[in-house]
Amino acid sequence: MAEYRQIPVNTDPAYTVTIGPGLLKDCGPRLRAIMNPCRMAVVTDNTVAPLYLDTVLQSLAASGFDAFSVTFPAGEGSKNFTTLSAILERLAAERLTRSDCVIALGGGVVGDMAGFAAACYLRGIRYVQMPTTLLAAVDSSVGGKTAIDLAAGKNLAGAFLQPAAVLCDTDCLKTLPPEIFADGAAEAVKTGVLTSPELFALFESGNLTAMPEEAIAQCVAYKAGVVERDEREQGERKLLNLGHTIGHAIEKCSGYTIPHGHAVAAGLAIMARSAAALGEMTPAAIERRDAERICATLSRLGLPISTEYPPDALAGAALSDKKRSGDSITIVIPQEIGQCRLNSIPVGALLFTIRAGWRA
Ligand code: NAD
Ligand code: GLY
Repeated sequence: MAEYRQIPVNTDPAYTVTIGPGLLKDCGPRLRAIMNPCRMAVVTDNTVAPLYLDTVLQSLAASGFDAFSVTFPAGEGSKNFTTLSAILERLAAERLTRSDCVIALGGGVVGDMAGFAAACYLRGIRYVQMPTTLLAAVDSSVGGKTAIDLAAGKNLAGAFLQPAAVLCDTDCLKTLPPEIFADGAAEAVKTGVLTSPELFALFESGNLTAMPEEAIAQCVAYKAGVVERDEREQGERKLLNLGHTIGHAIEKCSGYTIPHGHAVAAGLAIMARSAAALGEMTPAAIERRDAERICATLSRLGLPISTEYPPDALAGAALSDKKRSGDSITIVIPQEIGQCRLNSIPVGALLFTIRAGWRA
């Protein structure tokens, strides 16, 4: 087997994120190295299935796994109880047991759906993440958050369940349409703003399409550390929600027609401008024009930095956000590129924060 980048995630259970080209055709032996032959339910969507499902099924069969597929229509519109119920009924019809396994082959929607199904079925069975979008590679396949959307808002029903392994085949990124690649870039830029000016520089002036492995490895390594220290989002992990309170509100206002990454980009831009306008940025960040650099980098990557939905609509949509606790809500404030902080504010103050950075 070829050598790939490997990043350990020391949660309970611990697992490894393996990153590199051509991994899907190697997935059987890779999984055989960490589990006995078993039944495998490969959950995917109808865009990913024709591209990668056969490769995965063949590799699993060649390594002694008895695999079948469960496919649902692609898109955020499928992240609901109807799809969850169909997956669970299929797992039961196939008589999967607790020694069997679910595979999430796809982007963040497939990862969230398959992961939540694995967390519910028989009160929890193993699952493996095989991310095929940049967003899933840099963010959603790692950390064990799974969820579906409710009418009241985004990701409102879900569970924490760490995967048994993450196999990230970077060849999959070659078939992504540019706008879906850009969705992943939004979460990657978020990570750069959270953690390191050097990582941010990769996105500000580098060629992300030409070197996704380095960006993925750095984003995963950062996220792995945060998740190890705060698996259940009691504190530090909340930082990963930078741009997400407004991002989720934009998704909800659009009826989920604006994709997650695009919404997060606009949310991040609003938070960056707001921090600069309200004196939350450090003097060095103001001098370096960090807020403008964040917005310019998002634009350079083909992402929006504004939204048509007015501040009061966004603040209203954010009232059902998971990050609300009673009458307060925790927001993530970018102080400079590479440094952010959490701030718990009264729900009523969110409108003021949004207004300060909002652009049509
Ligand atoms: P997605 O899963 O909907 O994928 C976007 C589109 O790309 C889909 O149509 C899909 O079929 C297609 N696609 C996937 N791989 C492809 C490939 N290799 N080639 C061509 N087309 C491909 O969206 P996403 O941006 O990957 O994920 C967004 C979701 O992730 C949101 O629901 C968001 O809430 C969730 N998310 C979860 C976490 C977490 O920690 N659990 C973190 C961030 C985001
Ligand atoms: N994407 C945010 C988290 O995993 O916590």
